[in-house]
Amino acid sequence: MQKFINKLESSLKDGSFVKLTLSKYVGMRHVTSVQSQSMADIRNVYVKPIILRNEKMFSFTYRYERRDETKNYDAEQSLEIITQLISEVFLNASLFTLTEDVSLMISKKGKVTVMSKSVKEVREQNTEHDKVKNRLINLENPWWFKLGLTTREGKVTADMQHKYKQICKYVEIVDGVMKNVKFDGKIRIADMGAGKGYLTFALYEYLTQRCHYDIAMEGVEIRPDLVVKINEIIKESNMKDFRFVESSIEAYACQQVTKSPSHQDIRLVSSETRRLGDSETQLGILIALHACNTATDDAIIKGIESGAKLIICAPCCHKQIRREMEKSGVVNPITQHGIFKERQAVMITDTIRALIMEYFGYKTQIMEFIEMEHTPKNILLVGRKSEAPVDRESILKQIENIKSQYGIERHYLERIFN
Ligand SMILES: C[S@@+](CC[C@H](N)C(=O)[O-])C[C@H]1O[C@@H](n2cnc3c(N)ncnc32)[C@H](O)[C@@H]1O
Repeated sequence: MQKFINKLESSLKDGSFVKLTLSKYVGMRHVTSVQSQSMADIRNVYVKPIILRNEKMFSFTYRYERRDETKNYDAEQSLEIITQLISEVFLNASLFTLTEDVSLMISKKGKVTVMSKSVKEVREQNTEHDKVKNRLINLENPWWFKLGLTTREGKVTADMQHKYKQICKYVEIVDGVMKNVKFDGKIRIADMGAGKGYLTFALYEYLTQRCHYDIAMEGVEIRPDLVVKINEIIKESNMKDFRFVESSIEAYACQQVTKSPSHQDIRLVSSETRRLGDSETQLGILIALHACNTATDDAIIKGIESGAKLIICAPCCHKQIRREMEKSGVVNPITQHGIFKERQAVMITDTIRALIMEYFGYKTQIMEFIEMEHTPKNILLVGRKSEAPVDRESILKQIENIKSQYGIERHYLERIFN
């Protein structure tokens, strides 16, 4: 039951919820709550997301024997009500998200079965009363064809279906996270290890065209061929305040970075780009998606040092900690088997990253990015700068405990303390 509720909760909160159906009414045997007592002849409940006055809400259709009743709730209330209904009123629940279908079945004897399967097709949410499809990005924008995501007619190509799903999920998550952050003026965004730019373009498009934020976006990429190609697409598409910079993450100089030793190393693509690099604006959002091994740590350091309000990273491989665990010789039954050692390395690496971010005043969340069939690299680590007081001593102790338990001498991100 808890597994189902967890999936429900994350889909309601990260924006991947598509719809939910409650069925197999059990009568009012165990009913205790006020919510349920008024449901004597209920048959089904259908839930779907809607946009009400620019707010994401959830519309509940209560289907009674001879009538329908509709009520709207926010994510928190929806979770509470659905949890109550599946504990008390219904035996079956089917949850559809952008990435998976999850069904919950409770037998008459109370045995709970949860089954899930990932979604193969590209699924979209419908938040406008079954009429207009709510596309997160506009595939008819010319850059999608130029980047190779779509055909000339704006259809996602067969090879890129998976990337498209990832793009949609990513934009939804960032959008949800940004709602809890207050930005002043222009938001400066750096996407480190931006690669071919799909996710960078998607976020740029979404924030400018759909949300009308005033942003300045820089993709930081070490491969010169990609930087040249992407800057051509940006130029041809007249995209304002958006550019790719050829640089390593380590050498990239954010305006507010005080410790960067290599300001001169940055190879800006044209003199025009200096305007963005020299902006007085504080770095608002630091992004690093699938930047290899410790490049994620370098990006986090840039984010923290430049005072980014939001740090979003999807860590890639976790070799540094794995090697530390191997060389330590500490015998730990949990990491005796290779596959568990790998998973443990992922958890340790990202837990320590989160703790260090907490140390510097970030509230952190670790969430599932998207289920990728052939890779475990599906974690998104999000840090939101907070003014709340931090117990730094206790955080350092927690880091030390984890390290000594697994024989880790040093996490690469600890260089931020030097
Ligand atoms: C796996 S791709 C990810 C691309 C994109 N962020 C995404 O998630 O779709 C990683 C990219 O980071 C770049 N990269 C790796 N290490 C880097 C570093 N230290 N500095 C800058 N770019 C780096 C690589 O060239 C590659 O294009």
